[in-house]
Amino acid sequence: MLNYNPVNFKEMSPSELCDYIAKRHHKYVREEFGKISDHLKTALNVDVNSGPELRAIIKLFHELHDELEQHFNKEEEILFPLVQQLIISEETERAKKNLSVSIIDKPLEEMNKDHKKIERILSEIRRLSHDYFLDPMSSPTHKLCLNELFALEDDLHKQFYLEENILTPKLITWEQTILS
Ligand SMILES: [Fe+2]
Ligand SMILES: [Fe+2]
Repeated sequence: MLNYNPVNFKEMSPSELCDYIAKRHHKYVREEFGKISDHLKTALNVDVNSGPELRAIIKLFHELHDELEQHFNKEEEILFPLVQQLIISEETERAKKNLSVSIIDKPLEEMNKDHKKIERILSEIRRLSHDYFLDPMSSPTHKLCLNELFALEDDLHKQFYLEENILTPKLITWEQTILS
């Protein structure tokens, strides 16, 4: 899990925020996926009590992986590079003239749609795992997986909060100033 205390997100520029999100959150989630996937496979093999619920969680976990990979790619290849475009528009009179309509509205709308879809998968995993309940009868690997999934969910909530409540208003206000 990431330590949030020393960073003041409100003071960060949109460019710094995008950089932080990609380098800390996207990287963390991508690294965790491989590890959790291996642990889930082991838990399914060793835990005789794991049953259909664990199978359903694994299926959702793969769905989550696919959704997040696509979502992170969209942010890194479409939304975040628009920040550089806004910097250029702000600094260059000609580029500023070319910017007559919002370039961030659609990618932000897409981002929110993706977040909702991902949140639905996360809450389904939470429901199936009974709020990540650690059954004393489960194998240590099964318990480890639940702890890891809980940490992953927590980190994703922090990431989405940053994107929706800190980055988004900064981008909207900034673009409006350039457009006006
Ligand atoms: Fe993100
Ligand atoms: Fe996102």
